[in-house]
Amino acid sequence: MNLWGGRFDSLPSDSLFALSRSIHFDWRLARYDIASSLAHLASLVAGKVVLEEDAKIISQALREISQGIASGEIHPGPDDEDVHSALERLLKERVGQVGGSLRAGRSRNDQIVTDLKLFLLVEMREIALKVGSLARTILDRADQCVDLIAPGFTHMQHAQPVSFGQELAKHAFALERDLSRISSWAARTDLSPLGSGALAGSSLVPNPKKAAAMLGFSGVVGNSIDAVSERDFVAEALFILSMISIHLSRIGEEFTLYTSQEFGWVLLADEYSTGSSIMPQKKNPDVAELARGKAGRAIGNLTALLTVLKGLPFSYNRDLQEDKEPIFDSLETLNLLLPAIDGMIGTATFVKEKIEMASSQGFLLATEIADFLAIRGVPFSEGHEIAGKVVKHCETNALELSSLSKTDLAAIDPRLTEELMPLLNVRGAVESRRSSLGTSPASVEKANRMLFAQIEEFEANARHELERLSKVLDL
Ligand code: ARG
Repeated sequence: MNLWGGRFDSLPSDSLFALSRSIHFDWRLARYDIASSLAHLASLVAGKVVLEEDAKIISQALREISQGIASGEIHPGPDDEDVHSALERLLKERVGQVGGSLRAGRSRNDQIVTDLKLFLLVEMREIALKVGSLARTILDRADQCVDLIAPGFTHMQHAQPVSFGQELAKHAFALERDLSRISSWAARTDLSPLGSGALAGSSLVPNPKKAAAMLGFSGVVGNSIDAVSERDFVAEALFILSMISIHLSRIGEEFTLYTSQEFGWVLLADEYSTGSSIMPQKKNPDVAELARGKAGRAIGNLTALLTVLKGLPFSYNRDLQEDKEPIFDSLETLNLLLPAIDGMIGTATFVKEKIEMASSQGFLLATEIADFLAIRGVPFSEGHEIAGKVVKHCETNALELSSLSKTDLAAIDPRLTEELMPLLNVRGAVESRRSSLGTSPASVEKANRMLFAQIEEFEANARHELERLSKVLDL
């Protein structure tokens, strides 16, 4: 069914219909379209455009349709172009021509943007809950590893010893920023565009605030021409989802390395690894690799929408229909990925002996030598030079820093007194970094505990918003 006719002599060609059809992806907006139709109906009743008794019949039918969709009894038909026309057809099949009165004062232009906002306000909170769960899993694992010393890297080279609990927790810190982004995105998105009509508002909807409140929005947008054309909220959501995907890809890269034979720091549970069809010994980190790979899709989806929006005239243009598949795909991808990464990390075994052993090799403590001299008044650049000489001495003589004797040190520079010797051990170096940014177990534990509380707060807020919306929207 199409929504025009009067001025047309013929139906759209098959090719136009096939090209412009969106029902196969926008049908998922049906429940939000029904909720916004109910809110719009209330506006029309208040404006005396629709009689109370007709409104009762229409809203009863809309609720039945909603239940039919939820139970899987109602599906779109082959002739339905999009979710809006499909629902109008279903409504008219139940109540007759009066079903068409809902179209007064509304256009698909304000309808689609209202639907999409409501859908995303729910879906992004669902994502927030999954991100929160993953962040808490990471922090739980980090808690078990605060006392474990690992080599920390810069340029992928051994740099300084760190608490492995801090190393793991850094991912939760990144995810907390994503939670914060979702929260501020939601606050910005929370304005209703319903009542904008095609572009200029409508005399039949004198007060869009009521419909906005019925839909759970905190207010109404300020400019109808902007409202039907802005997809900032979709682009921003795509960016947030890309950032989450990028964070997951970095976890993926790290776990791929950690599970390699060369590192051997992590063993994945069988449920979260795959085998090879040809090499019986293989245990592959596919979850981690897919996390790395799927970030490309998320970035592609963001780029696709930004490209559609660039240079697009304001008000509604049909190009805007291209906003939906990218965001649906990014959501679907993360809904698959987040629980898998959560499970992979939650069930992984950290091979403590290997991690600890790695931290005792190499020259992770060279900075301690320069710091030791700095506190004794040697300018840092000079101390750095002396520490470099110590490293060189060890390299030429195949020694570790911890095996240097009092005489070895004094021979390199007399200021390297024997008080330096107890500092040349990784645990001492880690434990000495006690500031809020230090890697000492006590500092890491404290920082992680604070983060845990912040994450729980974001989760509680997302849960609260989901409950509120499900009540308001009667979903
Ligand atoms: N399917 C369209 C979209 O996703 C709905 C709005 C269509 N509006 C129009 N005037 N054709 O953007």
